Amino acid sequence: MCGIVGYVGRRQAAPILVDGLGRLEYRGYDSAGIAVQNGHGVEVRKLAGRVGALKVEVTRTPLIGTSGIAHTRWATHGAPTTRNAHPHVDCRERIAVVHNGIIENADALRAALERAGHRFRTDTDTETLAHLIEDAPGATLEERVAAAIAAVVGTYGLAVLSADDPGKVVVARQGSPVLLGIGDGEFFVASDAAAVLAHTRSVVYLDDGDLAVLTPDRYHVTDADAHVQLRDVSDIAWDLEAIELGGYPHFMLKEICEQRETVQSTLRGRLLFADGTARLNGLNLPPETCAGINRIVIVACGTSWHAGLVGRHLIEELARVPVVVEYASEYRYGRQPPRPGTLAIAISQSGETADTLEAMRAARAAGCRVVGIVNVVGSTIAREADGGIYLHAGPEIGVASTKAFTSQIAALGLLGLYLGRQRGLSLEAGRAFACRLAQLPALVGQALALEPEVVAIAETFATARNALYLGRGVNFPVALEGALKLKEISYLHAEGYPAAEMKHGPIALIDADMPVVFVAPRDEVYPKVLSNMQEVKARGGRIIAVTTDGAGTEGLNALADHRLCVPATAPLLSPVVTTVPLQLLAYHIAVRRGCDVDRPRSAPGGSGSVPQSAVGGEDRGRAGGSGHPPAPGGGGFQGRRSHPPAGRR
Ligand code: M6R
Repeated sequence: MCGIVGYVGRRQAAPILVDGLGRLEYRGYDSAGIAVQNGHGVEVRKLAGRVGALKVEVTRTPLIGTSGIAHTRWATHGAPTTRNAHPHVDCRERIAVVHNGIIENADALRAALERAGHRFRTDTDTETLAHLIEDAPGATLEERVAAAIAAVVGTYGLAVLSADDPGKVVVARQGSPVLLGIGDGEFFVASDAAAVLAHTRSVVYLDDGDLAVLTPDRYHVTDADAHVQLRDVSDIAWDLEAIELGGYPHFMLKEICEQRETVQSTLRGRLLFADGTARLNGLNLPPETCAGINRIVIVACGTSWHAGLVGRHLIEELARVPVVVEYASEYRYGRQPPRPGTLAIAISQSGETADTLEAMRAARAAGCRVVGIVNVVGSTIAREADGGIYLHAGPEIGVASTKAFTSQIAALGLLGLYLGRQRGLSLEAGRAFACRLAQLPALVGQALALEPEVVAIAETFATARNALYLGRGVNFPVALEGALKLKEISYLHAEGYPAAEMKHGPIALIDADMPVVFVAPRDEVYPKVLSNMQEVKARGGRIIAVTTDGAGTEGLNALADHRLCVPATAPLLSPVVTTVPLQLLAYHIAVRRGCDVDRPRSAPGGSGSVPQSAVGGEDRGRAGGSGHPPAPGGGGFQGRRSHPPAGRR
């Protein structure tokens, strides 16, 4: 949950670095710091608190220099104090390091360095890097960094500055994303494209084992074997507006309200109505491979896992393949016997969640073909998967994942349709489902219009202390997701349950103080859900029902204290629509409770989660993507656009 920015060029580095940090702040935000090469040495400013405070400090006592590095931190090793904030320096304060990731052998390295006379000032694992580089052999900073990281076990995305090598930033990647921004007479480093977008759209994604050297005139990249590499330059296809509030009070609300467009963007160019199928160019699953699939395992975490649960219904129904959905964190440590014919699907907004990545690798080691459903272009899961589907939902800045969820379900619908048509789904059924998918953006727009009603309900329930979310079938995952959203951003205890399970224990909790949210669109389990509502009503529970418009809702009307009517769609796709009011409800309750919705406390993953350990692989990402239409002909994990080298390398 940390962010890195670096700059080398001809402009003053500090304002560029602080601005870049501000754009990464959603990734980690308990402390921040900056180091600038000032012509004499390396000058550091850092503090516990937010980037705004650092900006004030740097304005009060300016840092002068044209190369620098900066960091925003979410504490893992060591308390979130000024002392532990990055950058970290060596004994002589000649070298400064910013680092994402975890140095696993930090304790052993620290003990050895202390025995050798090094003085440590912080509790962090990162500080060992500064002292290692201080002692490392080599004539240049890059040689010393290479020698130092050879002693490290763990993960890192790091940027290093040295007083003895002015006008240079050295970068290394192992298991934590780092990219270079390519400017004209200037270069940038960042853990996320958002940090450089104000200056350049051209980026180079580093691979694991890469070491890059940046000076104002050139950059070069060497791989783990010290061979110079010419990496592709990719375009960032989204605009600065995508990472700005644009008049909304919070990114979460902005991202909820964008869903009509983001679901459209996921579907755009991918529906083949005449053939009743989907065009998924990057999926890399030819018909003969589809025919050989006898089992699917979906691995994911959090909201993405909930999307996977919806995906199970979609794929089993359309493609008639058994699907299991596993928490990635459990799957990766489980025993995975080889199962020929199993397709693994890794779902991740960020494409960097460590558990999902490791689960994907475990699946591959067990002989599975692996595909990704990923939002962030060029992310590690996208690069390591055999193929996949990009969501094209645009950057998700709010920690609470919203638009990624609806786009994930849309993408799973496309995948189910594609697999189904390869495996016996009729042309007629395929066409009908394609039409239903195409209607989703408009239906999401209608669901968003419920906001004023949701606000009124939020007023009533903002003081509740607990909430229960119930749903059945394909809407049980929506109940889980509604509860997760509420607890994540409002700190209210909320649980999601299959509605029929309530009577097996949780029913004891129900009284007038326990709001119960039912996800009850009119589908085949609707009558069953009504009888679950009666059980709640009999115990004095207050019911909020998300249901569908139209006739046949009299029974529900008599039971529910509040109704939110979403438009009807195919039952399998209803989660895309029923989720929307629950996102809005969580948001408005959190706002009423005075919570910082975009920066909830203890945000370990976030939809934009940075990995604790993630390892990149072969570069297979598509350029740009999010928020913009895919290239004609679909879009997906097919090759990234390459550009001729910008500047000298
Ligand atoms: O980036 P990912 O989709 O892999 O992230 C997985 C979860 O950490 C994420 O969905 C998390 O549950 C959200 N913050 C929930 O809103």
